[in-house]
This record gives sequence, structure tokens and C-alpha cells, in this order.
Amino acid sequence: MQRTLLMIKPDAVEKRAIGRIINMLEENGFKIISIKSKVFTKEEAEKFYEVHKDKEFFSSLIDYITSGMVVGIMVEGDNAVSKLRELVGATDPRKARAGTIRAVFGESIERNAVHASDSPESADKELSLFFGHEH
Ligand code: CMP
Repeated sequence: MQRTLLMIKPDAVEKRAIGRIINMLEENGFKIISIKSKVFTKEEAEKFYEVHKDKEFFSSLIDYITSGMVVGIMVEGDNAVSKLRELVGATDPRKARAGTIRAVFGESIERNAVHASDSPESADKELSLFFGHEH
């Protein structure tokens, strides 16, 4: 059993997609352990995305992710990290497989609806940022 984080980003929150995304998680066998909404401060966002700090899109990403509410969802399942990334689809929604969350709700490579942790180590760090160390 693994736990990982799905974060619903401001574009998907704005378009009232929270419920439909939670449905997709449950229909695909993920168990929901905890849900928390928040608005990131700039400092929290920079910590969450620190692996991308040298990318040219970093400052735009920080502006976008702090522009509104995000929803963190702790999910559990066998191989949850890789299975959730399959359900999320490619970073660029135009390249995401049909039926994936980004194919359904993503608008652009930046405004791509959701984020999923890319490894067990990232999941640990990102779950801590949302839920503290109780996960
Ligand atoms: P995410 O999976 O949350 O991880 C990093 C985020 O940076 C990514 O989703 C997008 O929101 C954003 N991103 C990645 N690549 C680009 C890009 N080429 N241009 C703009 N934003 C990007």
C-alpha cells in the first residue's frame, strides 16, 4: 500500500471540477484518506515546486499556483504513485491520453488541472506540506 498526493489546481477549482475529479479517483480504485483546501503563500509554492526553480516557467508557475484555492487529496492504494500518474495523464493536456484527468479538465501545459507526486519521496514531501507529518 502506498499513499500519494493529488493536488487540484486553481483552474480546475474555478471550473467547479472538484467533485468530478474525486469521482474519477474513486471510480479508479483509489481510497481517499484526507482532503484539505488551501491558498499557497509564495514561499509555500516555491517550496512545493523547488525542483523546478531553475526552469524558465518557474515564476509563471508560482503566480498561477498562488492565484486561487488548491485542494490536496491524500489517496491510498497498491502502487498508488504510478497508478495515479497514469490516471492524471501527460503534463501537456493535448498529449494526455483520452479519459485522463488532464485530457478532460486541462487547459494548457501550465493550467493542467492537477498535480500528482512523481515518486514515493516526492509524495512524502508533498503530503507533509499539506497534512503535516501524520500521513
Ligand atoms: P506539475 O505536474 O504540477 O509539475 C510542474 C508544473 O509546471 C506542471 O505541472 C505545469 O503546471 C507547469 N509546467 C510544466 N512544464 C511547463 C511548461 N513548459 N510551461 C509552463 N508550465 C509548465
